[in-house]
Amino acid sequence: MGESVRIAIAGLGTVGAGVLALLDRQSALLASRCGRPLQVVAVSARDRSKDRGTNLNALEWYEDAVQMAREADADVFVELIGGADGVAREAVSAALAEKRHVVTANKALIAHHGTELAIRAAEYDRTLAYEAAVAGGIPIIKAVREGMAANRISKVYGILNGTSNFILTTMRDTGMDFAEALAQAQSMGIAEADPGFDVDGVDAAHKLSILAALAFGSEVRFDGVYVEGIRNVTAFDINSAEELGYRIKLLGIASLVEGELEQRVHPCMVPKDRPIAAVEGVLNAVVAEGDESGPIMVEGAGAGAGPTASAVVADVIDIARGNLLPAFTVPAAGLSRLPARPMERHVGCYYLRLTVRDQPGVIADVAAALRDESISMEAMLQHGRANGEGEAVPVVITTHETVEASMRRALERIARCEPVLEAPRVIRIETH
Ligand code: HSE
Repeated sequence: MGESVRIAIAGLGTVGAGVLALLDRQSALLASRCGRPLQVVAVSARDRSKDRGTNLNALEWYEDAVQMAREADADVFVELIGGADGVAREAVSAALAEKRHVVTANKALIAHHGTELAIRAAEYDRTLAYEAAVAGGIPIIKAVREGMAANRISKVYGILNGTSNFILTTMRDTGMDFAEALAQAQSMGIAEADPGFDVDGVDAAHKLSILAALAFGSEVRFDGVYVEGIRNVTAFDINSAEELGYRIKLLGIASLVEGELEQRVHPCMVPKDRPIAAVEGVLNAVVAEGDESGPIMVEGAGAGAGPTASAVVADVIDIARGNLLPAFTVPAAGLSRLPARPMERHVGCYYLRLTVRDQPGVIADVAAALRDESISMEAMLQHGRANGEGEAVPVVITTHETVEASMRRALERIARCEPVLEAPRVIRIETH
């Protein structure tokens, strides 16, 4: 058995406690797989007295994660604090400067500073590993970087936020509206009291920007992601989607279009027979399309102590085995800077939900606005009519492929039509 790998862990929340427990529970198995024991030597967290289910007495304790990154006698610094800046960033930088390998579950940190940190890690000949930052327990980083290394990837997309997927699933299963389903998710501990990062798409956008960098060997460009969350999805939309043969999913989608990088997170209507449409509840799934492999899909738990700890420890195992890989698909110095494709140039099909006064001529006005932008309608749904002429009624229109900029101009004009009573809403339809 070789020398032990010495580990310092910063942050002992759900994931940190999960990592400690896993390392303890599986210590014999891990040692046999690595050919050397994995030994936690130091930990850092705010509250020493909190019961984390593991005896920490034998470990060095640091109040200050940055100090631990500088001083602890560790080969690997595991960052589980979170946040793009502040202590997490400072501690990771300090650990790399001390020539320690870094393992992190921090998607915000990698989304905002991944390129710079990867370059620094490479300069020090150390690993920057972040399997747990994208889709929790799903080994998608390994799948793309290693398993698909022989491919050019044209598109990577997925359900990257379990909270939003749970809410959309609950809405469909129960008929609840967004607010009710969110309250249920909060009561079950699936959504946070302040759910913004999850339901507004930011968390998924962090993960998508990391996946895109990995898939395309390009710099991490979180600032290039178009982001829209699920707050405006209604029970009516969910029912309409079912009727039209779709499921609504919050997807993160990154693709190369004419040499530009399109990155977008928004609710999508996905044909019901697609495997990703069947990914329900808190589960995540990622699809990567390789030119040799064809599409692959990996599905699993995107959060939780066990699954996330599994991903963190997998990265530590790589280090222990001497399997030191570049942070992204290519060496950090060779990451390309792809131009960001603006959302206005996205081409796709659209679902429109309008609330209109039920009177003659409304649809003619809407159709004229679409016609003048060369947008071709595919289908229209209006069930029955309002109680009396002139009352509000929802109308659904789906379109053939069009350019987002044309759709936005048409929507502005539709919104100005007098019988259109609420701002029109769109959900993009993903058929490719
Ligand atoms: N809050 C995330 C989710 C998990 O709901 O998927 C951690 O990224």
